[in-house]
Amino acid sequence: MSNSILEMKQIHKYFPHESGTLHVLNDISLHVNEGEFVSILGPSGSGKSTLFHMIGGITAPSSGEIYIGQHNMDGISRKGLISYMPQQASLFPWRNVETNVRLGMELNGIRKKDAIKQAREGLAKVGLEQYSKHYPHALSGGMQQRISFLRALLTPNVVMCLDEPFASLDAFTRMDMQNWLVQRWEEEQKTILLITHHIEEALYMSDRIYVLSDKPTSVLATYTVPFPRPRTESLLATESFTKLKFEIYQHMKQKSRA
Ligand SMILES: Nc1ncnc2c1ncn2[C@@H]1O[C@H](COP(=O)(O)OP(=O)(O)OP(=O)(O)O)[C@@H](O)[C@H]1O
Ligand SMILES: [Mg+2]
Repeated sequence: MSNSILEMKQIHKYFPHESGTLHVLNDISLHVNEGEFVSILGPSGSGKSTLFHMIGGITAPSSGEIYIGQHNMDGISRKGLISYMPQQASLFPWRNVETNVRLGMELNGIRKKDAIKQAREGLAKVGLEQYSKHYPHALSGGMQQRISFLRALLTPNVVMCLDEPFASLDAFTRMDMQNWLVQRWEEEQKTILLITHHIEEALYMSDRIYVLSDKPTSVLATYTVPFPRPRTESLLATESFTKLKFEIYQHMKQKSRA
């Protein structure tokens, strides 16, 4: 794939388990092209977060290869290639909201003055500017998730990996964040790989969707999302949207009961 910026080739992952080994990933191959918005849908425990740990170089695959651009990510973490929002917001308790948001920018060499400006603008955008001097323990789970999302969004990167970024948000805040993410992605020509349990969220935002099976996990299907951009909320009520949503739902349901 000539313009793919992220490529996973024939990935297997085994974890040690009390009764031997747990085969989590079974021959996963996927790619994300430069500037593409790709989502991964899959059941709980299928290994989606594990895939991200491997992309970030936190865990090595048992076999197979991962490339980001020209770099082979064989269990090595490299600065500046990905920005990663983990499933559990991992904010530093001793840093306040604003300095947590600035962290990814500062680690990647953005000048403090610019980082402060971007952090403040971003906090206003996620509706948390009045909390900028608060510490994470004083925030709700959904607020912490928005801070973690903002930090990933503002960190310079080649690929942005988001692990269920909006799971703790109410429906309206979720829609706001989805729209903002897509707007930033369009403006800055980012490349995004997003994990979600929501078929609707994946369809609304993505160019392509990988649907994963249960463990040992393989790619069940790949969907190219046909809806033109810019997409607006009215798309959710169209017949073609609900039809495709139901088709993916049925596909996942049949396979999980097979
Ligand atoms: N470090 C580890 N050691 C042993 N087993 C692990 C480890 N990390 C993950 N697993 C196992 O691998 C499987 C996949 O876990 P993972 O967190 O990747 O799933 P997931 O698809 O992200 O699930 P969810 O949708 O619930 O977040 C699970 O059965 C989990 O128990
Ligand atoms: Mg997970």
